[in-house]
Amino acid sequence: MISERNSTRHCMTRLEDKINMYDVKKIRGDFPILKRTVHGKPLVYLDNAATTQKPKQVIDTISDYYTQHNANIHRGLHTLSQEASDMYDNAHVLLGKFVNARYPMEETIFIRNATEGLNLVANAWGRYNLKEGDEIVSTEMEHHSNIVPWQLLKEEMGAKLKFVNVREDGTLDMEDLRKKMCSRTKIVACVYASNMLGTINPVKEIGKIAHKYGALFVVDAAQAVPHMPVDVQEIGADFMAFSGHKMLGPTGIGVLYGKKELLEKMHPYMAGGDMISEVKLEGSKWNILPWKFEAGTPNIAGGIALAAAVEYLNALGMKNVRAHEKELIGYGIETLSKIAGVEIYGPLNTDIRGGVLTFNIKGIDPADVAAVLDSEYGIAIRTGHHCAQPITEKFGLKSTCRASFYVYNTKEEIDFLASSLKKVKDIFRK
Ligand SMILES: Cc1ncc(COP(=O)(O)O)c(C=O)c1O
Repeated sequence: MISERNSTRHCMTRLEDKINMYDVKKIRGDFPILKRTVHGKPLVYLDNAATTQKPKQVIDTISDYYTQHNANIHRGLHTLSQEASDMYDNAHVLLGKFVNARYPMEETIFIRNATEGLNLVANAWGRYNLKEGDEIVSTEMEHHSNIVPWQLLKEEMGAKLKFVNVREDGTLDMEDLRKKMCSRTKIVACVYASNMLGTINPVKEIGKIAHKYGALFVVDAAQAVPHMPVDVQEIGADFMAFSGHKMLGPTGIGVLYGKKELLEKMHPYMAGGDMISEVKLEGSKWNILPWKFEAGTPNIAGGIALAAAVEYLNALGMKNVRAHEKELIGYGIETLSKIAGVEIYGPLNTDIRGGVLTFNIKGIDPADVAAVLDSEYGIAIRTGHHCAQPITEKFGLKSTCRASFYVYNTKEEIDFLASSLKKVKDIFRK
């Protein structure tokens, strides 16, 4: 799709044959890093909610871009610039189609990451459309990137910021959402899948409630788009942000989906080259979408490599990805809950849970658990508040352990995690 010149096309054809049966062993063969050892042990990578590993198809695409096509885009008439522009433009279309955007090119803005996408909405929409006393509704289970931009906006505009309660079982209190909505609510900003609790929120329903009150529905899909089929039209998102590095792509590239009619009316976020159609000293006119929101030389290689990541995911099939992770999270919950002293957080129903397994072992500091898992067993997990301090504290915690799964993880790795946790308990005599 990116280009017939691009070697990814050939890799993908082979890949499609390979993974019709969702063969995890074969998928693992595409990830060079999974062959390395850590402290003399084979790497067991369970920190995918932080960032995912990259298949050789993505790594090769970056190398191919820099060895064959590197040039600045939308500027040169020479062959390399046209090739790079085509590849970068096509990447937008592919990403837009991946989330079923109605206008895949115009509605797909390449940004650095989900954080930048949410800041873009707060600044380029919020600062021009909110008035004093208007309200923003978010939830207690947000990542900091879907809290802090709204706090800044609230301060600047004299708005109110409300947070919907999260129940003890880790689900959103929908009654509380309804209670917190009013005619002054202008934005509902909600995470699709929580990086701390794993909860998959009923976004379609939340979108309907937002729209009933005339509010915009802003979705943080950083932990959803990489893991399940996501359809912006079905969920009624006005804006939706996600990061490439959490879905097999490189760091420094992400997507903000925005409804065309909103983006057209909005002020630009950053100003400079490429986002204009005409500049006079007295004033300027903006470029067409999506370039109006992509000022300056963008992460060209990153955008093209993100498209290669999406081709990889498309070949796997997002329904298969979700089914695989659902199986892993179910198995993970079942296996870890058999270990005395392990407490698991978030919903236990795998229909509404992504592949995020957050837990603690009674009496052992999560940092100690992670350090022993790494140094003795080569297992990478994450500890801390996972940039979701409010929800961590709501559960009376300062820190948790988090094992998070992706396309290449296996039940054997979960078994190894469980047996290693038992040994961690022995070390700390718990
Ligand atoms: C739910 C959620 N939202 C937003 C982000 C921010 O992503 P990034 O750091 O790539 O901007 C993360 C990162 O972990 C996340 O898990």
